[in-house]
Amino acid sequence: MGARTRFTTVGWHEGRVRLIDQRQLPGQVVYLDCADHHEVAEAIRNLSVRGAPAIGIAAAMGLALGARLLATRDPSGFQKELAGIADELAATRPTAVNLFWALDRMKRVAASRSQSDVESLVQALIAESQAILDEDIAMNRAMGKIGAAFIEGGDTILTHCNAGALATGGYGTALGVIRAAWEDGKKIRVIADETRPVLQGARLTAWELMQDDIPVTLITDNMAGALMREGRIQRCIVGADRIAANGDVGNKIGTYGVAVLARYHGIPFYVAAPTSTLDLSIPSGAHIPIEARDPREVTHVHGLAHIAPDGVDVANPAFDVTPADLITAIITEKGAFRPKDIHRLGGDSASLSAYRLA
Ligand code: MRU
Repeated sequence: MGARTRFTTVGWHEGRVRLIDQRQLPGQVVYLDCADHHEVAEAIRNLSVRGAPAIGIAAAMGLALGARLLATRDPSGFQKELAGIADELAATRPTAVNLFWALDRMKRVAASRSQSDVESLVQALIAESQAILDEDIAMNRAMGKIGAAFIEGGDTILTHCNAGALATGGYGTALGVIRAAWEDGKKIRVIADETRPVLQGARLTAWELMQDDIPVTLITDNMAGALMREGRIQRCIVGADRIAANGDVGNKIGTYGVAVLARYHGIPFYVAAPTSTLDLSIPSGAHIPIEARDPREVTHVHGLAHIAPDGVDVANPAFDVTPADLITAIITEKGAFRPKDIHRLGGDSASLSAYRLA
C-alpha cells in the first residue's frame, strides 16, 4: 500500500502561511492561517507547528510574508526591517538548527538582491520559502529510500517523539524511513513512545501512522526497557534537532534514555535527519542550546489535568543530547554514515562514497 499523507503541515494558502494546528491533534484537524509574521512566530513558540524541518519552513515563509507586508519601498530601509523580522522569528525556539539554517538561506537571497526593487525581492523570498519546503520533502523521500535498507520485514521499530510528516514539509525523517519500508511491502510495526511532557508520540506519531494504516502500538516512555528486554523491539529510529560535528545528536528529551537502553539490549539505534539539521560549526553536543520550557507542561497533562502539587520545583528541558557512540548510523539524504564520519558532509561530496554505509 502506498503510504501518502493526507494533510498539509505547512504551506502557502491564499497569501497566508497555513499550518495544521498540532496543538489540537488528534482531537481535531484544524488549520491556522497566519496573516503576518508575528502570528507565524507565535505558532512556532506555542508548538502549533513543531519539529525541526517544519519550524525552518514555517520561519522561511513567515519571513517572506513579513517582507510582503512591509510598506517601505526604499531598498536599504527594507533590508533593515527584514533583518528585524528575521530576528523575531529566530528568537522563537533555540534548539532546532533548521530554524537558523532556513532564515540564513532567506537572508542570503535578500542580500544578493539588495539593489533590486522591493517587489521582485519579495517574489524571490516567497519562491525561496517554497523551494525550502519542496526540497525538504525530496530530502525526506531520498532518506526514506536509503534508510529502508536497514529495516527488515517483521521488524518492530521504536520511535520517540514525532519525526514524521507533521514535523517536516511532508513524508518525515524517521517516519519517512518507516513509510518507505512499508511502501516496499515490509511487514513492520511501530512502537510509539508517548513522549512526555508534550506527548508528540501519543498525539501526533500514533495519529499520523494510523492515517496511513501503518501498524502502531502506543506505550508510555517508561515501558521501552521492558519491551526491549522481552525481545519485542528490533530497531530504534528517531529524528534530530541538531547534529554536532562529532556526531552527537540533540533531539527530544528522552531520546538519550532510549539510546542507552538500546545499547544495553544490543538493538541498533538510528537517527534520520536531512543535512539541514547538521551544525558542523559546533564540535560536540555540549554546545547544543537546550530549550527549557514552561513548567506547566510537566505539572499538567496537555494543559488539562493538574497532576502535581502547586509550587513544586520543576525541570523541563525539551531536548537532550545522545552521544555519537550510542548511534549505529545517521541516515541523511546523501547516504547513511557512522556518526564519527558525519563531519565529512561539510566537504566535497565526491569523496563521500568511501564513508557511506548505504
Ligand atoms: O519540541 P518539538 O516537538 O519541536 O521536538 C521535535 C523533535 O524533537 C523531533 O524529533 C525533531 O525535531 C526531528 S523532526 C523531523
